[in-house]
Parts: sequence; C-alpha cells; structure tokens
Amino acid sequence: MSTLAVYPGSFDPLTNGHVDIISRGARLFDRIVVAILVNAEKAPLFTMDERVEITRAVFKDQHKVEVDTFDGLLVDYVERRGAQVIVRGLRAVSDFEFEFQMALMNQRLKPKIETVFMMPAEQYTYISSRLIKEVFSLGGRVEGLVPELVEQRLRGKGLKRTS
Ligand code: PNS
Repeated sequence: MSTLAVYPGSFDPLTNGHVDIISRGARLFDRIVVAILVNAEKAPLFTMDERVEITRAVFKDQHKVEVDTFDGLLVDYVERRGAQVIVRGLRAVSDFEFEFQMALMNQRLKPKIETVFMMPAEQYTYISSRLIKEVFSLGGRVEGLVPELVEQRLRGKGLKRTS
C-alpha cells in the first residue's frame, strides 16, 4: 500500500523551513500533498493563488509533491484525499503544546489518521512566516530563509520600512 501524507498550513509565505519539511516528507512517504488552508487569516500577505503558484514553482521538479488547497476541517480533507498521515513540523518546545492539542483533536475526530511530527534542519528552527514578514517589512534581510522566488515576491509587494 502506498502512503499519502498531507502537510497542511497557511504558508503565508512559504519558508525554507517548510521546504525542508516537505522535502523530508517526500523522502519518507510515497506522495505528499502541501495543503494550503483557504482563508486562514483575514488579511494574508499573499493571495491563495500566489501561495499555490509559488509552492508549485518551488517543487516543480519533485514529482512526489502536490500542491492543493482546502477549506473546513483538515481531517475531512485528509479522508477525502484517501491520505493516511498528517505531517506537521516541530521547531521548538514552544510549538509542542498547540501541535499536541491539534494532533489529539484530529485523532479524536478521525482515529485512523496519524499525525507525524518532523523536525526541520537546525538552521531553520527559528524561522516562521510571521517573523519573515515582520523582518522583511522592517528592512531586514531574509536571504537564505525563504526560497528566492518568495524573496522576489516580497520585494514585489513593496513592503516598506515602517520605522
Ligand atoms: O500554518 P498554520 O497556521 O500553523 O496551519 C494551521 C492548520 C492549517 C494546520 C490548522 O489551522 C488547521 O488544520 N485548520 C483547518 C481547520 C481544522 O481542522 N481545525 C481543527 C484543528 S484540530
């Protein structure tokens, strides 16, 4: 039996931490679907179409990686896709509490779906989409922390120093 994994998130924007987890997932599972949550935030920086386009472009050469969007309950989407596994990245102990709650809630909702936590490479453990947006908007360098395409698109958004 082949194993399909779903890696859900907001990806606003995709970071090299996400890329690292997706690449690890693609080595471990037969196929991994990057599932971007529709309307996660009221005012995302990148539209859904932009996030899908960026993620597809970054993984264009990895046939095991698929990019999709989802709405509603994650476990319903996972079941609809016939997937067995939810992948979540764990960066630090601070991530654990919320991730643990989500994993157990998802397990209660659909006991047969397993959550698998994966650790990114050490150099990405402090990166988050929120920090990337904040640092970039304040004029800080995010080179090496996000894919080049994301950096270009951040510049294209015309984010300016706010201080
Ligand atoms: O990138 P994020 O914001 O950490 O991703 C959070 C996400 C999308 C995994 C989570 O908010 C989610 O699964 N939302 C879908 C709605 C749902 O199923 N909620 C119950 C989770 S226990």
